Amino acid sequence: MRSLAGDVIKQAFSQQTDEKLHRRLYAAICSCILEGSLKPATRMPPSRDLAGELTLSRNTVLRVYEQLQAEGYISARTSSGTFVSDSVLDNLDLRPNKEPVAVALEDHTRLSARCLELLGHASASPRQWGAFIPGVPDVQYFPHRVLKKIQDRLARRLRPAFLTYDAAGGVSELKEALADYLRTARGVRCSPDQILITEGIHQALDLVTRALCNPGDSAWIEEPGYWGIKNILRINAVNFSAIPVDEQGMIPPGPTEPAPKLIFVTPSHQYPLGSVMSLSRRQQLLLRARETRSWIIEDDYDSEFRFSGQPIPSLQGLEEETPVIYIGTFSKTLYP
Ligand SMILES: Cc1ncc(COP(=O)(O)O)c(C=O)c1O
Repeated sequence: MRSLAGDVIKQAFSQQTDEKLHRRLYAAICSCILEGSLKPATRMPPSRDLAGELTLSRNTVLRVYEQLQAEGYISARTSSGTFVSDSVLDNLDLRPNKEPVAVALEDHTRLSARCLELLGHASASPRQWGAFIPGVPDVQYFPHRVLKKIQDRLARRLRPAFLTYDAAGGVSELKEALADYLRTARGVRCSPDQILITEGIHQALDLVTRALCNPGDSAWIEEPGYWGIKNILRINAVNFSAIPVDEQGMIPPGPTEPAPKLIFVTPSHQYPLGSVMSLSRRQQLLLRARETRSWIIEDDYDSEFRFSGQPIPSLQGLEEETPVIYIGTFSKTLYP
């Protein structure tokens, strides 16, 4: 039997483009209700009739009615049929003849000062793959099959501890393996319990900054240097001085420069110039950091890669008890 509600739904249904019929019907009925062409308390067409009108299976209509009912658009009254709910329109205040609310869109979407500051300095290139893009490994040549095999093997004996929350800063086996690797390959002096796993260097830099700096503190960064660090410092309200770099790495400023809380460096392979920090600069920086009670943050982002020669040991392991936080990443050896 044809009904006015059925005609309204049929019209809206014909305007929907989704390939899936149930999604098309759902969207059609929702829009009718929200736009007011199906008013509150309107009786919905019986599912069998609507299915006939739209040449759909009855099950499709029943499924959509169930969904709409679960979301509160319509409600069934025993033995009298299914009706558009009153509550949905009252709640959403979407009746079409209401005066438009006089609030400018910008008021709703106003961003925080911190976010605007960040957007003003967005510096990552939208293009992150291709020739001459520094800091991105050749992900096409990654041995995905080998990694997949290893992952499959490990997935067969996953322990619940691997899958739940963790307060230890990472799986102990990984931290032990890393401590071994870092000691032998990078000369880092650390025990597994000193390691904290993060999502990458970017997150580690943020964590270190938040943990050690108060708003208004200052930091030294390399100039030129890794762009990512500037926004981390901005978002944490830490002031920074851009310290020039030469072929020996960061040139420590004279004593008139205020003592920084943090000193960010890439000693093994300066980013982006590629120089290696000389021994004397390393010693100067360590001395300075000890005097001013600063922390040096050693960003060892790509030291696994060398064309020739011996790997350069880390700054962290140069002496006992250095004021250095060493950070590395799998972004280059695996993929970002
Ligand atoms: C110097 C430097 N540090 C850190 C990173 C970011 O590392 P991650 O991907 O682990 O956040 C990059 C990325 O290219 C980098 O060049």
